Amino acid sequence: MKTFTTESMTDILSWAQETLKEAETITIEVLNPDIGRGHYAGETLTINGSNYLYRSYKGWSDLGELLFCRMLTPKPISENTIAITYEKLDLSDSFHHCDAQEEKYGITSRFAAIHKNEEPAFLSPYLRALRNVKIGEKKRVLNLGINTGDEFDLIRQILPREEYLSLELIGIDHSESAISVARERFDEGNATFYAHDINDLDSLGLGKFDLIITIGTLQSSGLEFKPLFMSLVQNYLSTDGAIILGFPNCRWMGGEMIYGAKAPNYPYSEMSILVKDIYYCKKYLQQKKFRVTLTGKDYLFLTGTKINLIHS
Ligand SMILES: C[S@@+](CC[C@H](N)C(=O)[O-])C[C@H]1O[C@@H](n2cnc3c(N)ncnc32)[C@H](O)[C@@H]1O
Repeated sequence: MKTFTTESMTDILSWAQETLKEAETITIEVLNPDIGRGHYAGETLTINGSNYLYRSYKGWSDLGELLFCRMLTPKPISENTIAITYEKLDLSDSFHHCDAQEEKYGITSRFAAIHKNEEPAFLSPYLRALRNVKIGEKKRVLNLGINTGDEFDLIRQILPREEYLSLELIGIDHSESAISVARERFDEGNATFYAHDINDLDSLGLGKFDLIITIGTLQSSGLEFKPLFMSLVQNYLSTDGAIILGFPNCRWMGGEMIYGAKAPNYPYSEMSILVKDIYYCKKYLQQKKFRVTLTGKDYLFLTGTKINLIHS
């Protein structure tokens, strides 16, 4: 175990990175954050004649994420200090490494273990986006890349039963296995699911929608992001329709949702493509007279609502 008192975070970070090149876990003894509640990171606290630099649990948790480690439950070591252990994540344990086509996200994939609605950093901005578009007032809702239906499940949870049942929900995904689970989960008669290629949406003759939701899907390989996005707005949104686009800014690895988009050719998180795509959609929607908001952290939510609706 390594003890840190007044060392800078620069020193702690570089020690941790160096040590983790060989070790699977590291344990550090630091000031108990509960003792310095309300201070900012780096403030000096003198306790019983000893100096410590304060850091919060959030800071220590962030450090774990940046090191691609999980932080284990801290243990008290002395009256003023705790031991924090960081354990390396198994980075190979991820659906991102799977090369399968339609079934990359199927029910036997590692992706199927993910329940995004249980991650506060996903849930909170998605809920906000649903409320922002006034989900209860919508009639027809289209979801592209619905998988097994988690994004509809949250709508079912937050709306009064009558309101929920008055919605017509349509979900599309090319994973047959995911769609068959979605059909079982939503058997109240107001949801329809198609195991279908989004590239060939037009052949389904779906008509127009009051809300389109698509999360983590438009940027998939095999889909042409810009033409698809423009076609959705032009051909699938009703006059007063709204849109929620969710962009992952994270990777799922070893049981954790790790902040930061991974870009080709960079060994670290790089967000240029993400920002470019989001900015493109934002400008396009604004030109089409949408009010656009961008919220979230590990998932970024671009929400577009028609301006005339806001002021009516
Ligand atoms: C990253 S997953 C996101 C799923 C879900 N929206 C979520 O955020 O958890 C992308 C989804 O889009 C589906 N998908 C990707 N390309 C597709 C295509 N060309 N046609 C239909 N579905 C597609 C995948 O099967 C997968 O379920």
